[in-house]
This record gives sequence, C-alpha cells and structure tokens, in this order.
Amino acid sequence: MALFSLTEAELRTRTSLKWQVFDPDVLPLWVAEMDLHQHPAVVDAVTDAMRTGDTGYPWGTRYAEAYADMAEARWGWRPAPEQVRRSGDVMNAILALLVGNTAEGDHIVINPPVYPPFWQVIEGYRRHITQVPLTASGRLDLAALEAAFTGPDAPAAYLLCSPHNPNGTVHTADELAAVGRLCAEHGVLLVVDEIHAVLVDPGTTFTPVLTVPEAQHAVVAFSAGKGWNLAAFKAGLFIRGTQARAAFDNLPPLANQSTSQMGTIAHTAALRHAQGWVDEVMVEVAANKRLLGELLADRLPGVSWTPAPGTYLAWLDCSALGLDSPRNHFLTRARVALNDGTDFGADYGQFVRMNLATAPAIITETVERMAASL
Ligand SMILES: Cc1ncc(COP(=O)(O)O)c(C=O)c1O
Repeated sequence: MALFSLTEAELRTRTSLKWQVFDPDVLPLWVAEMDLHQHPAVVDAVTDAMRTGDTGYPWGTRYAEAYADMAEARWGWRPAPEQVRRSGDVMNAILALLVGNTAEGDHIVINPPVYPPFWQVIEGYRRHITQVPLTASGRLDLAALEAAFTGPDAPAAYLLCSPHNPNGTVHTADELAAVGRLCAEHGVLLVVDEIHAVLVDPGTTFTPVLTVPEAQHAVVAFSAGKGWNLAAFKAGLFIRGTQARAAFDNLPPLANQSTSQMGTIAHTAALRHAQGWVDEVMVEVAANKRLLGELLADRLPGVSWTPAPGTYLAWLDCSALGLDSPRNHFLTRARVALNDGTDFGADYGQFVRMNLATAPAIITETVERMAASL
C-alpha cells in the first residue's frame, strides 16, 4: 500500500498546523508536514517510553550515534563523537550558532528565495541580512557570494540551506567546495541547514557539507524532523567540521538544554529503523513530481516549474498568469492553500510553494481547482 494514501477525510481529523489553519473546504498543500502514517518502529519506541514512564530528561549520545551510523551507511562518512552535540531543533540550533558566533549589527548572508525563518532568525536577533539570491536557474551564485564576502558589509556568517527550501536544489560537491573555500578565505562562519538531507529523489547524490575537505570550518544543523515527519517531537543535532571547534565553544549556555527526551527517542528510532521507509517516501514524492509536471502541462500551462531533485516541495512561477497575488487568488478562488512566495523573499510574490508530500488524488484535485479558478 502506498505511503501517501490517506484520504482527505482522514487528514481532516488531524490537529496539527497543516490541516487546521484553513477552512474545511480548503485543500492545504502548504507547510512542510507529510500526509502519511508514522513508521511502526517510531510508534513503538514512543509508546514504550510512555508505557514505562521513560519521560524524564534526555541523556547520552544515542541520537548522535544513530546519525553517525546513518551518515556512514548513506554517505560513506562518519563524524567523530566530539563533532556532534544535541540541539532543541534545527532553527534553535541555527539561532544558538548565530548568537554565539556573531555580534549584534553583523551581516549574515542568505540565498533568497529561502525558508522564511532564515530571515527571522537574523533580523529578529539584531543582525543584518545580506541577500545573495540564487541564480535564474536556481543555483548558488558563487561570483555574487564572493562579491558579498569582499564588499563593504563583509558578513560574519553564511546561512546555507542544503538541499534548498523552497526550490529543491541539491548543491553539488564542487559548489560546496567553492563555498567552503570562500568562507575559509574570508573568515565567514558557514552554517548549513541539512534538515532535508535524506529528502532527495531516487538516484540523486546528496553531499553532506562535512564530507567536503574545503568545508571543515562549517557547522551543520540536522534533525530527523523533516525526513521522518517528526516535527511534533522536538530534537536535533549540531555537527561541526574538524576545524570548527571554536563555533562549538562559542555556543551560548543552554544551547544543548532544550532537546526533549521524547524527541530524542522518536528521532533515534526513525534513524535506526526507518531508513528504507524514507527512501520509499522519496519514490512516491518523485512520482508526485512527475504527476505535477503532467498536470501543469495539461491544465495549467501558464504556471512554470523547474523540477529539482531535493525536498518534497515545488516552487511554482505564476508570473504569466497576470495575478496580483497568486497565493491569495488560489486561496480565495480555488480554495487551495499554498505558501506565498513573498514569505521567501520580497521579490517572489509571483511564486507559490506547493507541498507534494500527499496523496496523488489530492494533488490532482488541487491542480484541477487551480485551473478552474482562472
Ligand atoms: C530548511 C528548514 N529548516 C528548518 C526547518 C524547521 O526545523 P525545526 O522544526 O527542527 O526547527 C524547516 C521546516 O520546514 C526547514 O524547511
């Protein structure tokens, strides 16, 4: 049975963000939650902990070891124990890294269009954003990065999303090596969000930044929260390069304190027992990407989309439709909730982000409604 086979009626009983925010006649293909059941091993691990009252504070390195075993099996690379620490979740790890390693007023580089909390974690904590947008083909702009690093507002840090949310770009080893070299040369702390690491289409190579020799000054924020749909269970990891000890030393007090025991248990079970499952998820997501491509060509030719192998998200360019706000149009006229491109950068109001981690029937209905609304 397909993993993405839950019906709309079943999904509407959920109490989490995705299915609650909008009216019951709206199909929600927005926030990055997946519409599937949990892996039985995760259910068992959490249930056992509840049954036995194993609900205290987390202790030990089980999550870190499960990550290291996965990294070795999946990517042929294993961080040493001192390179991994636990975090509350990915955004709190990034916050702790930036607060501990940069000063108020410092500049931090991001690549719009990019995940909205990247803007908030910088501006909300009195740092300045330096924007280095992705190129027109959705890739890192290495020349523009170098210009930003050497410009008048030389940044203290660069916050990279890998794979990239929202457009799904998977950075190559060469690109990451070039980024690593630039950061080392200009003394820029490289912070890499790898929460989508395992979410790549079958046959696609994901390169963990810490497998790149030139990027050993980097620090990674990782969590099983996205790959295994465990946002309900807060936990995550900091993983540092061999030459990034200072970035760990500078972490503020309590940076490791907020990991939850249940999160650690759930994430560890996922990493230990559900590796094949996440690969199966991506087989279905890849099929959903093909389905979306066909539906757009057939029903919505005015929407242009360059499929990319990372994430279960589709970044759709609606410029040709001539709408004021595509997101608002589709919400009010099609009763379909997508993410507004402006949340990923002010210049992206003609884009919407669609979440493809759902049943094919829901994707088909969504595109039908969008087409009918025009
Ligand atoms: C790039 C990226 N980073 C971080 C997060 C959130 O992670 P966490 O809940 O662990 O803070 C998300 C969630 O969608 C994401 O897409």
